[in-house]
Amino acid sequence: MDTLIASPSSGLKGSIACPGDKSMSHRALILGGMALGQTRVEGLLCGQDVLATLGALRQLGVSITGPDKAGCTTISGRGLGAFTAPHAPLDLGNSGTGARLLMGVVAGADITASFTGDASLSVRPMGRIIAPLHEMGAQFMARDGNYLPLTLTGTDTPLSIDWQSNIASAQVKSAILLAGLSARGITSITEPTASRDHSERMLAHFGAEITSETHADGHYTAYLKGEADLTGADIAIPADPSSAAFAAVAALITANSAITIPNTGLNPLRFGLYETLREMGADISISNQRLEGGEPVGDITCHSSQLSGINVPESRAASMIDEYPILAIAAACAEGTTVMHGIGELRVKETDRIAMTEQGLLQAGVEVKTTPDSMTIKGGGGKGNGGKALAGGFTLDACHDHRIAMAFLVCGLASSSPISVSGAETINTSFPNFAELMQNLGADIEPNA
Ligand code: S3P
Repeated sequence: MDTLIASPSSGLKGSIACPGDKSMSHRALILGGMALGQTRVEGLLCGQDVLATLGALRQLGVSITGPDKAGCTTISGRGLGAFTAPHAPLDLGNSGTGARLLMGVVAGADITASFTGDASLSVRPMGRIIAPLHEMGAQFMARDGNYLPLTLTGTDTPLSIDWQSNIASAQVKSAILLAGLSARGITSITEPTASRDHSERMLAHFGAEITSETHADGHYTAYLKGEADLTGADIAIPADPSSAAFAAVAALITANSAITIPNTGLNPLRFGLYETLREMGADISISNQRLEGGEPVGDITCHSSQLSGINVPESRAASMIDEYPILAIAAACAEGTTVMHGIGELRVKETDRIAMTEQGLLQAGVEVKTTPDSMTIKGGGGKGNGGKALAGGFTLDACHDHRIAMAFLVCGLASSSPISVSGAETINTSFPNFAELMQNLGADIEPNA
């Protein structure tokens, strides 16, 4: 197991080229495999999660080459439903997105495939995907009806459905839409608030007929016309705002820091953390805004800031669902109390992120209270801004959770003594060169000698 040690740091400076967006990378490979013709992807994230999806698509008969020297990955699509049955289980490792989206793909094809994953993925709920895909005609055999390993038999004539989801989940929405591509008629999926819409945007980019609406009560529905003709397309993937979040918060909570994160995705349904940090008083500016392949992109600049605690409303949860661990570190360095509402979904991520964040912050000497779906953090003002330093001097096991690992390494930068994170190799799932890129900014994050 790899251990990384983060020591008190200040004066982070420069520009950090964060890796490609994980959500978009999975979708570019998958839609490229379902389209007819070639898809060329620039900036694909080569993290283990995406590589697991890439490997699974190859097992389904999709030819993928690259990335070449220019950073371009080429996918030769097979067309809808034209996959070959894999000879071995599809092992999606740590990736909930890979597993759940590919279940949607297999559900709309006339093949049987088994799905496996690592210790973390094997205890994450799959019932939320099984229920709608079963209604569309797919057959499942899952451990306890809810968990990997599972075996799925799809059909190339799935039924279109109108699914009402009680959670805002882009993975659920995307699995249904991917299966719905092969169905006759319109498939719709309604969620309580809009989750990230990369699937909708990318499906339109590949030529699918897809529309959406947000209702007066905040509910969101996407409508997809089935028996779609997808055509291979060129896609440029921006830097992942969820990965950029770690560098951004590191700069905010350390003294004399000023960093830029160029070419970062600014999709409003991913931008909740940055809005929240700004409400807390963060000096974050955005420049060079543009649209690329249907997605807003720009450069994010962050300066050291005195943060204040706020209430983070439930309505914002979907747009920052992966960012609560790093928000918790910012909150611990803020003056006053931060309350995060409506975050129960965090309990079924790579770990129970409410419990893991609480455990780490308590060791850092921070007052934390949690309920099944909320977290309250009393900040100490932050060492970087003349307030109280976090305690440090402990080791946290990442437990297969990349975002917990990175959040507590950033925490170490603003602590009075170093914080060690064991199992830090999990960071490779989403941010392969995290330590090196942070070191280039001046952050003291080193492997255990
Ligand atoms: C993702 C959706 C989110 C997020 C995950 C990536 C995606 O999950 O937590 O890291 O790419 O669709 P849910 O929207 O299913 O909660």
